[in-house]
Amino acid sequence: MNKLRTCVFPCAGFGTRFFPATKVIPKEMLPLVDKPILQYGIEEAVASGLDKLVIVTSKGKDTILDHFDRTAELERSLLERKKKDLLGEVEAVSTMVDLIAVRQKEALGLGHAVLMARDAVGSEPFAVLLPDDVILADDPCLLQMRRVFEETGRPVVALMEVAAEETTRYGIVAGENAGNRRFRIRDMVEKPKVNPPSRYAIIGRYILPPEIFSLLEKTERGAGGEIQLTDALRELVRTGEFYGYVFEGKRYDAGEKLGYLKATVDYALRHPELGAEFRAYLNALFGGNGKAEHDDAPRPAKRATT
Ligand code: G1P
Repeated sequence: MNKLRTCVFPCAGFGTRFFPATKVIPKEMLPLVDKPILQYGIEEAVASGLDKLVIVTSKGKDTILDHFDRTAELERSLLERKKKDLLGEVEAVSTMVDLIAVRQKEALGLGHAVLMARDAVGSEPFAVLLPDDVILADDPCLLQMRRVFEETGRPVVALMEVAAEETTRYGIVAGENAGNRRFRIRDMVEKPKVNPPSRYAIIGRYILPPEIFSLLEKTERGAGGEIQLTDALRELVRTGEFYGYVFEGKRYDAGEKLGYLKATVDYALRHPELGAEFRAYLNALFGGNGKAEHDDAPRPAKRATT
């Protein structure tokens, strides 16, 4: 079995759920406290032992690559002004990883985006991480899944139990519990409108064999008129054992407004420098009982009507 070392990050979507903020700024670059959303995903992959990182971008998303590049002028200026701490932070990001960038020229869906990474991945197993799905966990989610992959040598997807009414928003699996947080997957369906086969939803972490590429090539447009990764996975399930892993940790959908706000609050509360003061602020705001005692936050100006 080949060692798992590659992680693909599909970053080509329009981010329509976050308009207008993401009209020009890629959603992956929105800050979660003080780092762009994508950086959390990259750090998770690196902490899970993956060091060949492939970013699938699209037109207008080059700032994603710039963020992880060297910024000679900025670094020189910080050095001259003896801003050592800031320089350290900037250098840490640009030396963290070397990225391989590939382009998705048409917005044909997640399955198509993953297919674009085929040459960069080669003939080894690889992980896929959807940056919108931010996961706060003691052990990085991909590392938890990697253990299952190394033990079984079979594909693994991250699973989370969701409320019945939320099953329409996810890939939903069918199968049975195999113990140790594992689920033996027999089938799956992308965003079922009726009769979901379970309440276990696929969350954006996958460990896949290279055979998935030839299946993706044959996959026709599915839900939403897009080439769905779930539809190719469904074919892969037919070829042998396929596992779901109910990961330990809390997942946020940072690609939409409310999920992003929740993630911001939780990550800010855990931030080593900001956490204590932010907590005190929230306590004062809610008087410790979840109800605002005084709300002195400035209100947005009313939009002028002409
Ligand atoms: C994608 C996948 C879906 C999965 C979800 C997890 O959907 O297609 O199977 O459940 O990510 O976040 P999207 O959210 O891109 O519509």
